Amino acid sequence: MTTTTQFWLNDRLITTSASAGMLVLDYLRKQERLVGTKEGCKEGDCGACAILIGELVDGRMHYQPVTSCLVPLGEMHGKHVVSIEGLNSRELSPVQDAMVNRCGSQCGFCTPGFVVSMSWYVMCAKGEPSRDGMKRAISGNLCRCTGYASIVRAGDDLVEGFGPGGNWESIWQADDRIKAMAEANMVPAYFNEMPKRLAAIAPHVVEPAHEGAPVDFHVAGGTDLYVQKGEHIPDGQVKILNRHPEMKGIRLEGDTFHVGALTTFEEFGANADIAKMIPRIQDYLFLIASLHLRNRATLSGNIINASPIGDMTILLLALDSELVFFEDDGQRTVAMKDFFKSYKVYDKRPREIMTEIIFPKVDANTRIHFEKVSKRKCLDIATVNSAIKIRTSDEGVIEAVNLTLGGVAAVPLWLPETAKYLVGKSIEPATLHAALDIAQGEISPISDVRGSADYKRLLARQFIIAHFVELFPDRMRFEQVV
Ligand SMILES: Cc1cc2nc3c(=O)[nH]c(=O)nc-3n(C[C@H](O)[C@H](O)[C@H](O)COP(=O)(O)OP(=O)(O)OC[C@H]3O[C@@H](n4cnc5c(N)ncnc54)[C@H](O)[C@@H]3O)c2cc1C
Ligand code: FES
Ligand code: FES
Repeated sequence: MTTTTQFWLNDRLITTSASAGMLVLDYLRKQERLVGTKEGCKEGDCGACAILIGELVDGRMHYQPVTSCLVPLGEMHGKHVVSIEGLNSRELSPVQDAMVNRCGSQCGFCTPGFVVSMSWYVMCAKGEPSRDGMKRAISGNLCRCTGYASIVRAGDDLVEGFGPGGNWESIWQADDRIKAMAEANMVPAYFNEMPKRLAAIAPHVVEPAHEGAPVDFHVAGGTDLYVQKGEHIPDGQVKILNRHPEMKGIRLEGDTFHVGALTTFEEFGANADIAKMIPRIQDYLFLIASLHLRNRATLSGNIINASPIGDMTILLLALDSELVFFEDDGQRTVAMKDFFKSYKVYDKRPREIMTEIIFPKVDANTRIHFEKVSKRKCLDIATVNSAIKIRTSDEGVIEAVNLTLGGVAAVPLWLPETAKYLVGKSIEPATLHAALDIAQGEISPISDVRGSADYKRLLARQFIIAHFVELFPDRMRFEQVV
């Protein structure tokens, strides 16, 4: 599509009619010859292509680290794209200094990506600086030759410097940290100009997402679409769904959550009402992709990709979600339990756009839990995953339950027979043992690269046990039930 895209690239205003579906990575390297941003896997796995994307939110700049190999150029309109070349002026930045001092780089291929991720942490992370936080910030970056110990030490030095008693403590505490860093020459001074500069770019006028001429690709976060069809997207007719802010945001209306379909995994976890309802949401997110991916991956993309092991899909299915679709003038709502028909076949017409996900708020007697096992703890797709939503009486009798399992059938699965059995039973080992047998009859895993059918059956069993042990530690201990 030939719409002009205007954005700031580091300290330069760019106006381009390059294809909206072109990858930011390709634009940076091929058109701008900014080759500091590296092309490694081109599938979101290595972080060598990390950049920062800045947006103006309530008059302040809000930056996020993302992998530029999965981001469409057309979405950059009105934004600030920061590549490694834009992060320092003439001297090394504190992050680069720390990497040099700790010998955090050997061949150097991964280094720009690490520096971008660490820079995001010191410029933008919330809360107190922490080693754990810094590690999470670089969890999407791989290094194949230096080894992580020296990179982590560089991160630790930065955390110490910005932490209590550190040289840069006042900068971390500053009301506008980026401004304070610019004044201290720790990031280039042009960062201070960005709110004004972005405000001057006229927004694109866009028709509603579900209207207009047919297109070849509806791109949301792009994290599945570019991996699957990346070669064809730049030449196709593309609709950039993220140009529709009305499809984002989370609101609680009475007892019902209305979650914009384009809400990212990180935005979902950061919402205070969601965190109240799912207290361990941050632990669960840590097991899903990486920070860079979670900043891009949307809930609707996860559902419509229809993988039997989509993590947010399994969680949303357990929450009794309904999906709202629009097509031209028509709207319809589909229960998520009825959405998936067979492997990657689902109840959606090609032109339909998912705008919203709806689910009921839970009461104080309801608990929610998620479990996942993958070959690697972070940045890996599940072998099997599972979620539960369970309401009990004060006496410990199950009043309602929804149990879901991924990776054990052709579709993301919910277990109606197991749920039917559990309702009315008290939480005790005998109930669980009977439920485990019923659940085994409801699943049909196959062997694949992620694990054998037997292994998946075992994981399904262990996850159901884990749900009960985690949620009802006073009524059930692990050694009583295995
Ligand atoms: C390195 C890597 C790691 C990953 N790790 C995980 C993981 O741990 N767990 C996990 O569950 N997933 C993982 N994924 C998969 C992926 O990130 C998720 O499935 C993500 O939610 C997809 O969302 P998206 O916004 O990027 O979708 P896109 O790629 O933009 O779109 C996916 C599909 O959905 C359609 N679509 C999206 N939104 C709408 C809408 N509102 N209306 C109509 N159609 C729409 C698109 O047209 C497309 O067909 C990983 C992916 C990568 C590359
Ligand atoms: S090139 Fe590997 S994540 Fe982008
Ligand atoms: S320094 Fe070579 S891959 Fe990290």
